Amino acid sequence: MSRIVHVNGALLPEAEATVSVFDRGFLMADGVYEVTSVLGGKLIDFDGHCRRLARSLAELEMQNPHTDAEWLQIHREMVAQNGVVDGMVYLQVTRGNPGDRDFAFPGPETKPTVVLFTQSKPGLAENPQAAIGLRVISVPDIRWGRRDIKTVQLLYPSMGKMMAKKAGVDDSWFVEDGTVTEGTSNNAYIVKGNRIITRPLSSDILHGITRVAVLRFAAEAQMEVEERPFTIAEAQAADEAFITSASAFVMPVVEIDGQAVGTGKPGRVVPRLREIYLEEMRKAAI
Ligand code: PDD
Repeated sequence: MSRIVHVNGALLPEAEATVSVFDRGFLMADGVYEVTSVLGGKLIDFDGHCRRLARSLAELEMQNPHTDAEWLQIHREMVAQNGVVDGMVYLQVTRGNPGDRDFAFPGPETKPTVVLFTQSKPGLAENPQAAIGLRVISVPDIRWGRRDIKTVQLLYPSMGKMMAKKAGVDDSWFVEDGTVTEGTSNNAYIVKGNRIITRPLSSDILHGITRVAVLRFAAEAQMEVEERPFTIAEAQAADEAFITSASAFVMPVVEIDGQAVGTGKPGRVVPRLREIYLEEMRKAAI
């Protein structure tokens, strides 16, 4: 089925949508993105994604081409046009097409390029992987130092996924100076007793929108939240481990570098957190 995509305000069949070869997103990875989930035709945590988009743009001195209300309307239009019930809306803003290649940023006459498309994933919240859990390997984190900005420079995360694939597992966790930063496209956590441990926010990791909600729900469920770095050895010895992201929600991690975490099966805490997250976020969806 051909999708309707958004390019700079125009809604077009995907085969007719084009972006210039001089676009800085294409030539320099000079762009940022957001992925917002859709459940039951509604957007999950839209305000959070909108806030992070504004921050990513501001950190890179890029214009925000739309107000939050306009972004909401554009997202809803994409969901409606493509009949998405469960899935994702992908949004990308680049610094645009200055008409030639040049390292220096262009002036304000160059307008950002805005692209949105949808991905339909029926039954996204009922992903059978959640009952099995993920197996991960650790790989060195050699990404740049501003991982808090959600840029489209995704080559190393893609390589991380390929390293996992070649090792016959599901994903990689990045390790820097002996501690876990995050997953290739998700935040990483361990559970010890009644305590959830995750790396504190800094420029080392992306400030996950799912992370904010999950830590809030964990605190509301009387769990302790400890924001500090942890090692792979500590994770392997933990009771449970998990990742969060807008597309995976809360997903158990049951094996790290060939070693089972806990019983090697999803435990008690992580599936419960997933349940609470999905229930609460569905209620608040817009
Ligand atoms: N990835 N860390 C990294 C490096 C990520 O790429 C992501 C999201 C997250 C989780 O952030 P959030 O909870 O806001 O989705 C953490 C998205 C889903 C992606 O690239 O597809």
